[in-house]
Amino acid sequence: MKILTLNGINLNMFGKRDAATYGTATLTQINDELIALGNSLGVTVENFQTNHEGEMCEKIHQAYFDNVDAVLINAGAWTHYSYGIRDALAILTCPIIEIHMSNVHAREPFRHISVFAEVVKGQICGLGTESYMAGLRAAVALLKKDAA
Ligand code: DQA
Repeated sequence: MKILTLNGINLNMFGKRDAATYGTATLTQINDELIALGNSLGVTVENFQTNHEGEMCEKIHQAYFDNVDAVLINAGAWTHYSYGIRDALAILTCPIIEIHMSNVHAREPFRHISVFAEVVKGQICGLGTESYMAGLRAAVALLKKDAA
């Protein structure tokens, strides 16, 4: 099973950016932890980050052609307004889990809206780096249930 983790705009700055909100872990550390967790769960994890919306859409298109089994996406601020990424995600038939490090519902009103909400299987927010780990565990559990 192959699981693709997508990180969007500004998320390469985790570890340097607003530590009170996002903690001190870097994206590289999160990605390494996801790969290790994936190994222990028996799945392959690929990590991708971009600050370019079109590149994110193209990676999602590639995920369609590659038949990835599940997608975790933290699109950063794009979550709140990118219909382009929303429409790209809607092309996929695999489960998609939306991830946020912070509790977006406890923050500014514009962060309470996710334009992805209708096309994702579920959303996990507010657990820091554990949002990613919980997302990966949930994706694997869903896939195993489907395969049973
Ligand atoms: C974020 C929350 C978004 O509102 C914000 O724009 C981010 C990070 C999070 O992981 O908590 O860049 O997606």
